[in-house]
Amino acid sequence: KARIAILISGRGSNMAALLYAAKDPNCPYEVVLVGSNVPDAEGLKLAAAEGIATLAHSHKGLSREAHDDIMHQAISESGAEYVVLAGYMRILSDGFVGKWPGRMLNIHPSLLPKYKGLDTYQRALDAGDDRAGCSVHLVTPELDDGPVLGQTEVAIVAGDNADSLAERILIAEHQLYPSILSSYVTLEADPEWILGQVRERALALEETH
Ligand code: GAR
Repeated sequence: KARIAILISGRGSNMAALLYAAKDPNCPYEVVLVGSNVPDAEGLKLAAAEGIATLAHSHKGLSREAHDDIMHQAISESGAEYVVLAGYMRILSDGFVGKWPGRMLNIHPSLLPKYKGLDTYQRALDAGDDRAGCSVHLVTPELDDGPVLGQTEVAIVAGDNADSLAERILIAEHQLYPSILSSYVTLEADPEWILGQVRERALALEETH
């Protein structure tokens, strides 16, 4: 099985979905570590109760690079082959991202490339969109910009507000993430394609800077 480390900052409901999916004997990945930059993150308790190794290290008082190095070292020592971000609300340094090319995934609550960053639900509502959703993508240095591996569209219902929409999108996230991660680690996605996409994005970035 592919070994994955999950990084969280809070509630950890996507982490729980990933953990529970991994209990299926046919699941192609196993969770070897759950790490957090928030020592009292709710999700850490759940992971520990499920018998998963946890690592909590606050970023406070550390430079971004120093904190990322601590996380990277713990992830490497756990033997993880993939880093799976699940509500990890820290921007990662280019150095850290560069250590996991094509091996770090994130879930974002919008139909990327729309609404990178925060407040995705309200922005979709304000724009008068008739659908919102979630995306799983590879992580590249630019925020929420990496190649999209999968998306679920969620219809916006009359009377929706940011909270009701977030709640429904979260249900979709819990289905999407384990499913996309499972396909990804079994490399239904062609590794050459992935690295090509990552390189293409890096080149495009260089040109705009
Ligand atoms: C999820 O909705 C996830 O998509 C979002 O944070 C929430 C975490 O919930 N992530 C981002 O906004 C990343 N930019 P969880 O801790 O219950 O999984």
